[in-house]
Amino acid sequence: MKKLEPPKAFNRRAFLETAGYGAATLMLWPFISSCDGQFSKAASPVMDPDFIPDIDLELSAVERDIPILSGPKTKVWVFEGDLITGDKEALQASKGSYLGPTIKVRKGQKIRIRFQNNIPEETIVHWHGMHVPAEDDGHPQDVIHSGETYIYEYEVMNRAGTYWYHPHPHGRTGPQVYNGLAGLLLVTDEEEQQLNLPKGEFDRPVVIQDRSFDEDNQLVYIQSRMDSMRGFLGDKILINGNAEKVLNLKSGCAYRLRLPNGSNSRIYKLAWEDGSPITVIGIDGSLLSAPKELPYLMLGPAKRADVWLDLSDKPEGIRLTMKNESFPLEVMSGGMMMEGGETSLPQGSEYEVFTVKTTSSGSNEYSLPQQLVKSNYIDPSTAENLNNPRQFSFAMDHMEWTINGRTWETTGVVDEETVKLGSTEVWELINSSAMMGNDSGGGMMGDGGMMGGDEGMMSGGDMMGNMMQMPHPVHIHQVQFNILERDVSDVDSQLWEAVKEGFINDGWQDTVLLLPGMKARVIMEFKDFKGLFVYHCHNLEHEDMGMMRNFKIT
Ligand code: C2O
Ligand code: CU
Ligand code: CU
Repeated sequence: MKKLEPPKAFNRRAFLETAGYGAATLMLWPFISSCDGQFSKAASPVMDPDFIPDIDLELSAVERDIPILSGPKTKVWVFEGDLITGDKEALQASKGSYLGPTIKVRKGQKIRIRFQNNIPEETIVHWHGMHVPAEDDGHPQDVIHSGETYIYEYEVMNRAGTYWYHPHPHGRTGPQVYNGLAGLLLVTDEEEQQLNLPKGEFDRPVVIQDRSFDEDNQLVYIQSRMDSMRGFLGDKILINGNAEKVLNLKSGCAYRLRLPNGSNSRIYKLAWEDGSPITVIGIDGSLLSAPKELPYLMLGPAKRADVWLDLSDKPEGIRLTMKNESFPLEVMSGGMMMEGGETSLPQGSEYEVFTVKTTSSGSNEYSLPQQLVKSNYIDPSTAENLNNPRQFSFAMDHMEWTINGRTWETTGVVDEETVKLGSTEVWELINSSAMMGNDSGGGMMGDGGMMGGDEGMMSGGDMMGNMMQMPHPVHIHQVQFNILERDVSDVDSQLWEAVKEGFINDGWQDTVLLLPGMKARVIMEFKDFKGLFVYHCHNLEHEDMGMMRNFKIT
């Protein structure tokens, strides 16, 4: 219905809810965009009468007190859902957790989500990895105020995969996700159904996040400017919002574990403690063409990996721990550097992530297929610019996180960020931090050493050396891409040695973890929808500080 249409003049489907959903009130939109100083358009409150949803649901963001640790409850912000129409399976509450309900859809279904903002600040929901029209993507310019509702209506066009949803207001995504606002969106399709993969209780989400709590069990976020430059690192790992971190599974059974890294900035190097390989069957927006066995798996922020776990010959009563293995990427931590910003769980240290316990026994008939899905990857020769890719460089410039030297502008977009509908392109995503280290840092510290200043940290030179080591998990909205290659010639060799077997280039992905110095070439098609979308670093603190830009499909 909305396919291929140019954006309408009044496409903002937000309205102040007055007396139930029927009461649609045309109102003047009081939002003044912070960077561009434009007034936004009047809101169009109507649901599209031609849109007949298979699944129609209400989703609200609300404040709650829930038990996470023993003792006082923790104040969190959560998504809560209510199914209006559709299969009961489509919405599954995450009981006893701050995580939002899991939304389950099939490719080809139409979904309407009536999102109500009941937290005390502006927000908007983004469907991470989904191929949707611009007005359904949760662009930061579409934020709604507390008390307002935003209507999403789209057809699920994605492949089977593990997607997720989270807020996307500029400058506040980090704290909002941290406070609890995130949920899973699982897509299935015919191809996946034919594979007879584990379903129901054998298909388990394992959402990995890190948090810090104060002595009253309240969440503690950014403590210093250093924390925000680096990205938030908590000192406790939570699994599906639980501090207990135990999955009670059945011996004799096979499982599909879906592992989303929902952390703001933490990177995981996941490995089974008993040394058995991790069997990956899916990544981000697709299953792989065939299962892949890795000694360990690198999982940057926002990435999802689907892992096969076979407990068929495990006895009842065993424990199997997934740990984080160490890697030398202790970014700006330790020593005087981190005054006021230290974590007892540094990036790249060794710790337990979660434990599988076989608490009962059973059996199921699932077996790991040798082949999974037809890959049908994009033929590189169809790209307009195979040998001359657009380059996007993620770097610190004058104490700001930038992309090609620019920071966020609400609707700002330049020529090099403008692509044609129907085109296939290669983008080279570059983490230029390591290379910038060569220029003695004049530019970086040029603004009067604001990092050093009142927080009394170390000298500019040392700090810069550390700062250069920042990884950037780069995410592009609207598309799923194929990774053509990763150029690691500028990556620290000690770091690369420690992590190189944990990356996957196969599959359809939407986020690529760029280690310092890494360049990744990705290929994607811009199809179906015109409009303004964003690409950004998914270290949420970097994103909030402006390491996000628009790209426009025309
Ligand atoms: Cu997961 Cu632009 O976000
Ligand atoms: Cu996204
Ligand atoms: Cu970043």
